[in-house]
Order: sequence, then C-alpha cells, then structure tokens
Amino acid sequence: MQLRDLFLCLDIKEQLLIIFAGLLMVYFHFRKDKDPPGFPPGPPALPILGNIFNIDAKQPHIYLTKLADFYGNVFCIRLGRHKTVFVSGWKMVKEALVTQADNFVDRPYSPMVTRIYSGNSAGLFFSNGKVWRRQRRFAMTTLRTFGLAKESTEQSICDESQHLKDAMEKEKGEPFDPVPFLNNAVSNIICKIVFGRRFDYSDHNFQIMLSNLTEMAYLEGSIWALLYDAFPGLMKHLPGPHNRIFSSSKSLVASIREEIEKHKLDLDPNNPRDYIDSFLIKEKHNRNSHLGFEEENLVLCCLDLFLAGSETTSKTLQWGLIYLIMNPQIQCKVQEEIDRVIGQTRQPTMADKPNLPYTDAVIHEIQRMGNIVPLNGLRMAAKDTILGGYFIPKGTSVMPNLTSVLFDKNKWETPDTFNPEHFLDSEGKFVRRGAFLPFSAGRRACLGEGLARMELFLFFVSLFQKFNFSTLDGVKLSTEGVTGATRTPYPFKVYAKPR
Ligand code: HEM
Repeated sequence: MQLRDLFLCLDIKEQLLIIFAGLLMVYFHFRKDKDPPGFPPGPPALPILGNIFNIDAKQPHIYLTKLADFYGNVFCIRLGRHKTVFVSGWKMVKEALVTQADNFVDRPYSPMVTRIYSGNSAGLFFSNGKVWRRQRRFAMTTLRTFGLAKESTEQSICDESQHLKDAMEKEKGEPFDPVPFLNNAVSNIICKIVFGRRFDYSDHNFQIMLSNLTEMAYLEGSIWALLYDAFPGLMKHLPGPHNRIFSSSKSLVASIREEIEKHKLDLDPNNPRDYIDSFLIKEKHNRNSHLGFEEENLVLCCLDLFLAGSETTSKTLQWGLIYLIMNPQIQCKVQEEIDRVIGQTRQPTMADKPNLPYTDAVIHEIQRMGNIVPLNGLRMAAKDTILGGYFIPKGTSVMPNLTSVLFDKNKWETPDTFNPEHFLDSEGKFVRRGAFLPFSAGRRACLGEGLARMELFLFFVSLFQKFNFSTLDGVKLSTEGVTGATRTPYPFKVYAKPR
C-alpha cells in the first residue's frame, strides 16, 4: 500500500495528529534557535509558544523553584522564542551574582522596557555599561547625602512614623486596610529624598501617583509583561492589562516632569535640596558626556527610585503585620524587648538596633518569608560563559532565583516555617546568614538596601511600640499572596489597638 493510501485510511483526528507531528518535526529541524551543545535542560516547550502554559500566573516563582528539583540548579524556560536560564540555590546563585559578577552584570533587552524607557540605556534599573555604572554611583552618593548619612533621614522616617501612627489611631480601634497607610508613609520617604518634600496622605495627586506605582509594580512582573516581551508585535495591538503598564508609566512620568520643572524655577547651584537638584546641577557640567546626565534620564531615574523603593518596603511591612498577627507570641516578645530597651514613649533610633537582637531577627525573618522580590531582576550573559557545568551563550537572559535561596533546604534549618531563631545564636545574639539575599547580591544588588533597612527597622519598631495588631476574629490570614514584580499579600484588615 502506498503511503498516501495509508494516510487516507486514517480518520480525520489521526490525519490532523500526523500533520501536526510533521509540522513539529519540520519546526524543530529548521528552527534557528537550536540549543548549542551543553546548553541547560528544561521542560519540553510548545513550538512558538514555549512553556507559557506551564507557568502558574498567580505564583510563577513556586513552579519555577520546584523545577530545579527535577532539572537541577541551572535549567532553561522558553517564552515564545525567548529563552531564560534560571539559576537556583544559594551556591549557584552566588556563583552567578558574585563569583562571575562581570559575566552577569547586565540586564537583557526587553521590548516592554524599551517602550517605557525609550531605549535600554536609560534609568537605573534597566541601563547597562558605563551609563549604568555612572548613574548607579551618582544615585548611591546622592542617597547617602540626602538619605543615609544625614541624620535628618532618620528623623524624617521617625516623623513619618508619627504621621502613620496618627492616621492609624484615627481608625479608633475599628478594622482597616493597612496597605494605603503603609504605601503613603514609605513613598513619602522617597518623595523627601527625590522631591525634597513629603505629601499629605489626603493629597489627590499623591494618591494618583501611588495607585500608578502599585499598578506598574504588579504588571511589570506579571505574566502580561512576560507575554508582551515574548510576542511584542502581537501584544502591541491586543487589548489587555499590559496596556495599563504604559498608561501608568506615562502618568508617573508626567508627575515627575512637573516636579522637575518646579525645581528648575528656584534651583540654587550651591545648595542642592534633593536628588533632582543634584542631578540638574550635575547635568550642567556633564551635558555631552554620554553618561546619562540628561533631563529625560533624570525622569527615568526618579521613576526607578519610586518603583524600586516604595512598593518593596511597604510590602515587607505588610508581610510583617501578617506574620506577627499570625504569631501573637512573637509579637509579644518583640514588644517586651522594645519596652525594655526603648520604653513606650521615646522614638526609636538606629543606635537602638544592636540592643534589639530579637526584633532585628524578626525583621530579617519577615524579609525571608515575605520574599517580596521572589524572582529577582533579570540579568544577561555578557559573553559565552560556563555556569554549573552548562554552556550559557552570550546574550542569554539569566534569572538568579531568590526564592530558591531564601528557602534553600541546605541553608535554613526550617525553611518553610516563620522562625526568627534562624537569625539568633544560642545566647540570643543576632547572627548574619549568608543565604539571606532579599536584596540580591554582587555589584548589581539593590541600590537602596541601606535605606530600606533603616526604614524597615524604624517603621516596624514605631508601629509595634505603639499598637497591638490583630485581625478580625475567626479570619485566617494567608501567606500565599499574588506575585507580580513583587509578592503582594491578599487584601486583609487589621485592628490597631493602642497599647
Ligand atoms: C525591602 C525593600 C527592598 C527590597 C527587598 C529590594 C530588592 C531589590 C532587588 C532584589 C533588586 C534586584 C537586584 C538584582 O538585579 O540583582 C533591587 C534593585 C534595585 N533596588 Fe531595591 N529593594 C528594596 C528597596 C529599595 C529602595 C528603598 C530603593 C531606593 C531608594 C531601591 C532601589 C533599587 C534600585 C535602583 C535597583 C536597581 C539596581 C541596579 O540595577 O543597579 N530598592 N532591589
């Protein structure tokens, strides 16, 4: 019997199956992006679509962390034709971020980012090369001047804590959603550093800015952003939540531009008041240096400081409330320590930190379990590189997965349990842990780590010094949350009862 006759004997389903299998074979045979020898393994991917349907849109980091049990600590996931190599476990993540730092310091090209940031050499988060190096150095120095080093930042955070506590007290012991309160307070710290002023919580424009920040922070790390980057030509023309990334960023950019214009009116070159002033002064001397000191880039750097610096700290405090409400005995122990060292009336200062080892351990454990940046920022191989025995070609996207480090079974005694003892020795003294990497590691780790640590400590201590937090009777809080660029708790309500 001829092959053609054999084919015609089959029913329509079988014929379609054979055609599909044939197309698959042709695709795999001719596809241009064939893996080179030694390339990391990964789950089988559909032609054209890749592994898009494997990934749980709500909790992608859990699936991507579990895959390492099967494929090992270096494996590949495909979205469309785009390949991303996931690096898992403390040892391998450290190897990528610290030991081979130079090979993985850059961020990859992203169509979504290019549309928002008009090119890949813009802002702080997505820029590369000498623009990134110079802008990062400038931002760190300026943060130190207007942020960390100035005693006034410690004072600003304490003043802001007072506004926060006053706002919570106005709820008069009734249950309320703590999220807007924490967003207001934390964003105001970045506003002080970048704009030189704080906003009243009832300020309409401030509230619009915050809702755009929340929207962008969620969508930028969601499945919608992945889809946009995998199929930009198609997604550009489709309706869907991804379009809100661009509308939110436009609105934020407009608010930042307005602030910059106001700053230009009364700029004193000898007396910079904040990040914007310092940048404008620097711009005058470096106009043609190609180091990113242009006004357009100032807007994008400010956008990055807000995006990276407000949602992150606020979400950590939100998880802090959840974990301490779920563990009232730990909340009690924290309050006993605060009462003993600071009392109930004096404002906390950073000098109190070494005397509050239990509270410090609890804050670290909140950061570990809260895991608010579960997948880290994407990196790219700057040249052909060997990692964990696998070959990573130049230009490949690489994701050093932070969840796999913060929950590494080989590094933590009880990885899945909220346990402040992870950060305490047998005498109750605070101990640092190498696998504590919520801020990532190496040369491109979080630029705001110092500021974030100061904010977390001072806000946390002020809140628990003043209030007992609990939730509605019979309601069980969830630690699951929704994952975008950050991990967000499900909506929850708290009682804040003055102590
Ligand atoms: C609890 C709070 C925070 C956490 C957990 C956090 C975490 C992170 C992580 C995981 C990264 C990616 C690093 C990498 O690619 O390896 C990052 C980058 C960054 N963070 Fe943070 N962050 C926090 C607060 C802040 C604050 C307060 C600021 C600003 C004032 C800030 C500014 C930045 C910037 C600008 C980058 C990009 C750095 C670069 O690409 O060079 N972050 N952060």
